[in-house]
Amino acid sequence: MNDHVTHVTHPLVQHKLTLMRQRETSTALFRQLLREISQLLAYEVTRGLPMTTRRIDTPLEPMDAPVIDGKKLALVSILRAGNGLLDGVLELIPSARVGFVGLYRDEETLQPVQYYFKVPTELEDRLVIAVDPMLATGNSSVAAIDLLKQAGATNIRFLCLLAAPEGIARMRAAHPDVPIVTAAIDSHLNDRGYIVPGLGDAGDRMFGTK
Ligand code: URA
Repeated sequence: MNDHVTHVTHPLVQHKLTLMRQRETSTALFRQLLREISQLLAYEVTRGLPMTTRRIDTPLEPMDAPVIDGKKLALVSILRAGNGLLDGVLELIPSARVGFVGLYRDEETLQPVQYYFKVPTELEDRLVIAVDPMLATGNSSVAAIDLLKQAGATNIRFLCLLAAPEGIARMRAAHPDVPIVTAAIDSHLNDRGYIVPGLGDAGDRMFGTK
């Protein structure tokens, strides 16, 4: 994966995203759509993984069949909204190892502060896919990737649902080696850091909180 941003324009992704954006979409439907889209995005974010072959027997004859090479990849959810993307991706890659990064925003400094960090061992040997549905200011994504690099990760991809140009620019400046896969690049951030037109607060919409 070389391009910094991959915008997944597939009609199924775009149609489902439109349903998710709608104000009247219920929590249950929002969650289901997120799960479905995350699987379609997982297809894109895992493109180009190194492959090898394994000798197998089909009912007719032996063959050298393609399988993904290397250590099990690591999915890292940036709490809490990342869990909505994580579930769907894990269904598609059930043997992946899973980590969590918890960050909150200090209301005075507006900087992300870590409250939880638990990631799989041997990160340096794994493809690490960090997931967070909303790439808004980019502050928490950049901080999460800083932590993953400190923990040894060298091969990281970032998967989101919506990205703001501001967040993409911030990520590109801080982590130009981390490709981003997104279903949409929206217009801008508002003065409260929400993506416009966006879909509102992804965590609240998926968990039914306010
Ligand atoms: N986080 C969200 O959940 N929504 C936004 O629009 C921005 C950040």
